[in-house]
Amino acid sequence: MKLVVVSNRVARAKTNEPMTGGLAAALLPLVESSGAIWVGSSGQILDDSSANAFATIETLGKGALALLDLPAAHYGGYYEGFANSALWPALHSRVDLIRTSQDDYESYREVNAFMARALLRFRTPDTAFWVQDYHFLALGAELRALGTTHPIGFFLHTPWPAASVMRCVPHHRELIERMLAYDLVGFQTAADCENFAGYLRTELGLAVKGGVVASPYGITRLATFPIGIDVDVFAAQAAKAALHPEVSRLRRSLEGKKLAIGVDRLDYSKGLVARVDVFDRILTLHPELKRKVSFLQIATPSRGTIEAYGALQDELARHVAEVNGRHGEVDWTPIRYLNKGFGQTVLAGFYRTAHVGVVTPFHDGMNLVAKEYVAAQNPQDPGVIVLSKFAGAANELDAALLINPHDTDAVARSIAAALAMPLSERRARWETMMRRLRTNTIHQWFSRFMAALADTRINDILVDAKQPVVPLQARPGHGSAALH
Ligand code: F6P
Repeated sequence: MKLVVVSNRVARAKTNEPMTGGLAAALLPLVESSGAIWVGSSGQILDDSSANAFATIETLGKGALALLDLPAAHYGGYYEGFANSALWPALHSRVDLIRTSQDDYESYREVNAFMARALLRFRTPDTAFWVQDYHFLALGAELRALGTTHPIGFFLHTPWPAASVMRCVPHHRELIERMLAYDLVGFQTAADCENFAGYLRTELGLAVKGGVVASPYGITRLATFPIGIDVDVFAAQAAKAALHPEVSRLRRSLEGKKLAIGVDRLDYSKGLVARVDVFDRILTLHPELKRKVSFLQIATPSRGTIEAYGALQDELARHVAEVNGRHGEVDWTPIRYLNKGFGQTVLAGFYRTAHVGVVTPFHDGMNLVAKEYVAAQNPQDPGVIVLSKFAGAANELDAALLINPHDTDAVARSIAAALAMPLSERRARWETMMRRLRTNTIHQWFSRFMAALADTRINDILVDAKQPVVPLQARPGHGSAALH
């Protein structure tokens, strides 16, 4: 089988370039080792949509990376518009931040159709497609409309919220009906999967039994595949990174004092302003910790042209300045705040240097930083992770100090407890978490998804392949009732 993986953002082939978001970092070793073709956005736009859209195709380990210029007329409406100002806020239960238009939706659909046409170049009799994330909810249906009966899987990296939240997304019904063109739809957690099944039952009137649903497209399976990391590779990278000049600089600057670290994309789902409040609170409640601990927050900007992101960046910068102004000394700054990305090796070294990992999102599909922080620790002297209950990673990392990120005092108490935790408890918690991480690495995640995709096709008892049906809404007399 030849696998074609599709995502909006891809990791660049250059080693140790900063990577934005967990998806790119997670897929990179898979493509390198499996020989898959990874297709994604080049980040450039194309004025002439009849020109060759493939900017570059280069080798990536045993696989290849194919970068596509997306159509200029639709890129903004697709990426900043529908994907990141309608779907992203809804998927993270921030319906108050939904800002979108009919044009955005049409651009989103156009880019999904454009990507489907571009993918035909890689279609051979034994190709399987694996579509990643909310940018391409309708891509499977577009591929089916082009006659593709090949296996197509979909994996969502973000949470999937309750049906009452998804109902706030314009055109939700049409989009989610189209998701049934996928053979397999994978989620990070059982709760996300159950929310999706709940939507199919309540909004589309479909029967979901044993994770299987039938629609005019054929059979679709719903299942949970928590994404993992390359645990031992990351651990080895962290151990080696101690010698990296940037990591040494950080360690020297601590002068033997303690460090807490947070590494996130600058996004409202990550709870960054609340996290700064926590540090304010810690230093107010425990003035004895002044100068004994600093907090390094790396907040990598993305989606900066969207108003909510620009506003957050301003608010966060102001807030950090206020807290530093309140608690700082002429020779000590409590919060070190950086708006830039770092390569994986340097980050691995930073995680190992930090005594506490602070991962406190309000909502997060998985949060691979949490897993990487744990994997990066020195087994003889591991740090402690303070982790939001609302990150998918909390299901596996239940030996972390689990917190509610909305409860500032409780998070402050947990960080203070982490800083004071005896070595025996740190080791016991860390060993438990490492055992869990090793049972679900990124490679196991990949194999499980692929096995489930193959299995879905073998066990498809109603139809022996997905139907290349005309999209439901486009057929006369077939509104959403066609699915009931
Ligand atoms: O993990 C969620 C995600 O949206 C990924 O799809 C993406 O790679 C990452 O966050 C970064 O987002 P963006 O590409 O919009 O900066």
